[in-house]
Amino acid sequence: MNVGIDKINFFVPPYYIDMVDLAHARGVDPNKFTIGIGQDQMAVSKMTQDIVTFAMHAAKPLLTAADLAAIDMVIVGTESGIDESKASAVVLHRLLGVQPFARSFEIKEACYGATAGLQFAKSHIQAHPDSKVLVVASDIARYGLASGGEPTQGAGAVAMLVTAEPRILALDNDNVMLTQDIYDFWRPVGHPYPMVDGHLSNEVYINSFKQVWQESCRRNDRSTEDYAAICFHIPYTKMGKKALLAGLASEEQAQQERLLARYEESIVYSRRIGNLYTGSLYLGLISLIENSVALKANDRIGLFSYGSGAVAELFSGHLVAGYEQHVSKENHERLLEEREKLSITDYEKLFNEKIDIDEDKVFQDDLIYSVQEIKQTIRYYKEKNQ
Ligand code: CAA
Repeated sequence: MNVGIDKINFFVPPYYIDMVDLAHARGVDPNKFTIGIGQDQMAVSKMTQDIVTFAMHAAKPLLTAADLAAIDMVIVGTESGIDESKASAVVLHRLLGVQPFARSFEIKEACYGATAGLQFAKSHIQAHPDSKVLVVASDIARYGLASGGEPTQGAGAVAMLVTAEPRILALDNDNVMLTQDIYDFWRPVGHPYPMVDGHLSNEVYINSFKQVWQESCRRNDRSTEDYAAICFHIPYTKMGKKALLAGLASEEQAQQERLLARYEESIVYSRRIGNLYTGSLYLGLISLIENSVALKANDRIGLFSYGSGAVAELFSGHLVAGYEQHVSKENHERLLEEREKLSITDYEKLFNEKIDIDEDKVFQDDLIYSVQEIKQTIRYYKEKNQ
């Protein structure tokens, strides 16, 4: 029995800034951001748009009544949770209308959380082939205005429905995992922004890829030729490229160039969005599937997941015949095109607006799903026109 991704979708908030504008505002050469970091635009969100509202926007269009009746597990991977105790997956479960006899929880390990969720979902479906699992990666990546990490921010969610006999990607059983207790990026309880040792994080990311790549080739008796493409966690688009080139430096030039061409197809959306944290790897997968004309059914796609702290995992899946009919390039391009470009002044204003959870208040937001009210520290969400 195959198990894997049957449906997949992403959502980003309806605002962005141009990286050239940001570079000018920060007194930096724009080429540093567009070439050195590899970002053209960056998604920006309002305070009334949180991980639950992004998750709703990403998941709702995917799910039929039959899916809602079959889902018995809702997993949210996030590192920008809204509660230290209650899982956002419980709120999502209700808002989506999933049948009640389900397990709902949140997973945290930096940008790796959704991969843990996907692997947990795979094991669950192997044991219960008739059920379905909803895995959502939802995050707001923020480092602070004028901080070193600022050009690598972003926001949004990716939703995946995991089932038996999936129609997009059948997951293989070839995972190689790696755990290393390293402080490259972390966010102590109560801190609004992460602490980050940016250059160390780059180094650990690259070394982690090298280690799991070599171990995977050894354990699974594979080489670059066995992969049609490799998707990477994409904190900024130059990062995956650096790891790919460093990790495959001893491989034939033609193989490096082939995988680099696929990598470029996997970063089309990330260049315009920035870091989705837990969702970035899966945004890359969507971008690859929707923008590559070189792929075909049964091709093996490698997936490199990295969460600072640090946990890394390399695994793969096979494209299922007809996969291209189950993704929606048109919708995703429209979502990006219809966003509003903000000036840096407006972005800074939005950035500084924060919900005070201790103050009862009603909010206005045009987004279909948003935070409508805070009452006695509880977030109440609205559906537009409700
Ligand atoms: N023209 C072209 N390129 C230029 C340039 C110019 N004028 N000026 C600089 N550059 C290049 C540099 O050469 C460098 O490229 P290489 O890395 O290929 O050498 C690149 O632009 C970045 O320059 P710096 O290293 O000097 O930039 P920085 O000190 O401002 O730091 C950063 C960059 C480390 C990514 C920082 O933005 C940061 O800390 N980001 C957050 C942490 C992060 O994303 N880490 C990634 C790995 S951790 C992870 O993946 C988990 C996660 O999601 C956070």
